[in-house]
Amino acid sequence: MNNPIGIFDSGLGGLTVLEDVQALLPHEDLIYIADSTFAPYGNKDSALIVQRACVLADFLLQTHHIKALVVACNTATAEAVHILRERLQIPVIGMEPAIKPAVALTQSGVVAVLATANTLQSDKFSKLLDSHQHQARIITQPCVGWVEAIERGERHSDCTKALVAKYVQPMLEEGVDTFVLGCTHYPLLEPVMRDLLGEQVHIITTGRAVAKRLQHQLAAQHVLNPQREDGKQSFWTSGDGKQVSRMASVLFQREMVFKPLPQQHETIIIEFELEKKQQLLFQALLQGEDGLAFVRCMHGVQQLWTTSSQIDALKDWLKCLPKSFNLCILQEYVWTGE
Ligand code: DGL
Repeated sequence: MNNPIGIFDSGLGGLTVLEDVQALLPHEDLIYIADSTFAPYGNKDSALIVQRACVLADFLLQTHHIKALVVACNTATAEAVHILRERLQIPVIGMEPAIKPAVALTQSGVVAVLATANTLQSDKFSKLLDSHQHQARIITQPCVGWVEAIERGERHSDCTKALVAKYVQPMLEEGVDTFVLGCTHYPLLEPVMRDLLGEQVHIITTGRAVAKRLQHQLAAQHVLNPQREDGKQSFWTSGDGKQVSRMASVLFQREMVFKPLPQQHETIIIEFELEKKQQLLFQALLQGEDGLAFVRCMHGVQQLWTTSSQIDALKDWLKCLPKSFNLCILQEYVWTGE
């Protein structure tokens, strides 16, 4: 009941959701993680996003004993929420682009959904789109560069304004009168969008609806925090604590101190060679090991991705592989971003 709520995103965008949660549930303690070393998620491998989501959820559970998890990231929700729900015994609340209210609001009959490429390409989003496609014309648009601009603390720069206009202007010309912000970073650009779009156009965000769903779930489980004083907040990041704190304070106009995540949550890469004919079987065996590692091929090199906390278990598993696998380890290092 007094336990905190965990919230995570690839970076600082999820703080827009944290603000909505704080406004609705001011007595709850909140723990936020910005997975800044891995931001943006919007163009990363699905397997990496799943692994990061599991690592961050494990940290929040094991270290902070959270009573609920908010995946304050549309991309991570699209890729990983079903896996988190299978693994965790607590309520897991995800984001979903608000297409339903948008098709109800539009008068021109043209709606735009702005989100990351990964969100728009996901199966989860395709299903959502299919269920509303007949009610309005729905244009989808990945907004390349928006997340990066926000992570640099640039909400109002000329460069950011130009980047916003690049995507939004052509949609106005297409007759869009309702914009759905399907990425938790994008509400930070709402003032710039508003300047371009004027007051008549609708801009729909999802944070408040997510906060309400969270409230509903906590109430149903009788675990709302009964304390009368304001909840405490703490902030963690896989990136550089000082830099992330500075950017968060610039973006949100209040002091937030981000602490670095403990080292066991680092991502370790093992590069290896394996004959082509053995690769599929190897991957199938690994998949049965529930999040121990995943295989990625980068620039023609086979890689195993895992975390510091799993590395010993992974090495033990590799040792137990049948002798017929001619797996040859080339090198091992900590991933520091692409
Ligand atoms: N804020 C996230 C989202 O809602 C992630 C954006 C990114 O890292 O690309 O999709």
